[in-house]
Amino acid sequence: MDTVVSGIRSTGNLHLGNYFGALRNFISMQHENRCFFFIADYHSLTTHPDPASLHGNVRNVLTEYLGAGLDPEVSSIYIQSDVPEVTELYLLLNMHAYIGELQRTASFKDKIRKHNDNVNAGLLTYPVLMAADILMHRADCVPVGKDQEQHLEMTRKYARRFNTIYGVDFFPECQAYRFNGEPIKVPGLDGNGKMGKSEGNGIYLVDSDADIRKKVMKALTDGGPTEPNMPMCEGVKNLFTMLSIVSDKEVYDHFLASYNDCTIRYGDLKKQLAEDIIKVVAPIRERIADIQSDDDYLRRVVRLGAEKARESAAATVKEVRRIMGFKPF
Ligand code: TYM
Repeated sequence: MDTVVSGIRSTGNLHLGNYFGALRNFISMQHENRCFFFIADYHSLTTHPDPASLHGNVRNVLTEYLGAGLDPEVSSIYIQSDVPEVTELYLLLNMHAYIGELQRTASFKDKIRKHNDNVNAGLLTYPVLMAADILMHRADCVPVGKDQEQHLEMTRKYARRFNTIYGVDFFPECQAYRFNGEPIKVPGLDGNGKMGKSEGNGIYLVDSDADIRKKVMKALTDGGPTEPNMPMCEGVKNLFTMLSIVSDKEVYDHFLASYNDCTIRYGDLKKQLAEDIIKVVAPIRERIADIQSDDDYLRRVVRLGAEKARESAAATVKEVRRIMGFKPF
């Protein structure tokens, strides 16, 4: 039985990238493993320090986790800030995280470009906090999308470094978990490489059927192939990638063949794609609506989750302190 950990920042509603990159994969393994899935509210502060929306965002993500099928009876579903041990481990790991390597992280460079007015130390040390989330449970396996691979590589580096410096074999080196063996990147349908909250191109788990149809119909394409087996433009490639994620293989093969023999009608492809996305989203959206005003249930879920997560975290931090030389008088 593996220990599995993952989380999503609470910066807004969850989109299909979050679902197919992380959530679905986690759900698929929750019954066979020791599983922790949390809401990364500390991480959200690196870019969204807004007291007026913090709690509401956490609440939304929680209901979306449950609506998507996370089972609080078998997984620990918790809020990062309910587990104070994570901040202690973060501080301790920071002593062995080098500024140079943090500055070279792709996500940090990207954030500097986008948030030039707020390049804070939390952004710089984002991968250390993420490593603390994972190492706190001594996880073997982390279901994340392709964009998080570098962060996992850094987590492995911190685990190795800790083990080497202190001459122990304490932290395991976690592996990314991929649903079909391939790291997944859900594209934006606006011709953007990646679907993301800050890109404003998301299809969300709470979107109505009409919204989904509208968003898909607006997806960027070109004038259509003019000769057999033509290379696809970025927008069309993204539509096919989406199709490969949500639709049956026969559907994908049918549209690919019609692209290659130039008979494709993008309108038909988009209609099919929208319906296949709705098949995934509609039942989740209905479950979200059922639970979102059930305060007692949500409170029970996060209490139970925090209890289980703290038990695991406290055992790790206690051992880390001992290894590093802290002793009681
Ligand atoms: P966040 O909120 O940026 O993303 C959450 C998860 O969604 C995945 N994801 C995608 N996957 C495929 N295609 C996309 N377009 C797409 N957009 C987002 C991300 O890869 C991620 O798995 N830093 C983490 C949160 C975190 C975490 C952790 C994860 C904090 N501590 C410990 C795992 C373990 C993040 O990327 O959040």
